[in-house]
Amino acid sequence: PLQAAFAERLIAWQRQHGRHDLPWQNTRDPYRIWLSEIMLQQTQVSTVIPYYAKFLARFPDVGALAAAPIDDVMALWAGLGYYSRARNLHRCAQAVVEQHGGAFPASADELAELPGIGRSTAAAIASFAFGARATILDGNVKRVLARVFGIEGFPGEKRVENAMWVLAETLLPTEATDADVSAYTQGLMDLGATLCVRGKPECARCPFAGDCVAHATGRQRELPGARPK
Ligand code: ADE
Repeated sequence: PLQAAFAERLIAWQRQHGRHDLPWQNTRDPYRIWLSEIMLQQTQVSTVIPYYAKFLARFPDVGALAAAPIDDVMALWAGLGYYSRARNLHRCAQAVVEQHGGAFPASADELAELPGIGRSTAAAIASFAFGARATILDGNVKRVLARVFGIEGFPGEKRVENAMWVLAETLLPTEATDADVSAYTQGLMDLGATLCVRGKPECARCPFAGDCVAHATGRQRELPGARPK
């Protein structure tokens, strides 16, 4: 079945066709990865890039960010929106310094206890920075899984989301190197952002088209399911 081959095929696709030169790639510094993932939570890549550069120039490490006045952080964040992210960013930096001696914890479960880091963001940081086998599940990934595996229902519904977390966990690569784990997580992001998009997905270029429930049944527009009225 596809489930057994999913990770290997996604990793191969990501290495050939995925994104490799975003400013937060090609580093394993958890601070840089964390900062990018928080900025990318509700904001598109092209908007984030200049803010990311500005933040790193002003706050090169977690200690510098933790020691800064909150007003400086808010001023640098101005224009990015969703300002609770900036407050949590500052609180998280202080927690890393005060509770973890200035080093981000290496597991998704520990990362998820920090301010502003939910389950999916924790998995992204743990996999990119530490090679942890932990799955992300953001809106893009929910769309990919709903289509490829034919998951019915509105993903904003707890029961559907829970089923997707369970599926996503089963798809993780086994016996993967740290580089494989990074390529896998990035591949999930890249497939949803570049091919399996909301409007008109590019199924002709998709490594899963031959196994995809939505593609086989022409239901790309119906999956994932809409919010029930
Ligand atoms: N969106 C969330 N995380 C991302 C990442 N690491 N690269 C590109 N887009 C993202």
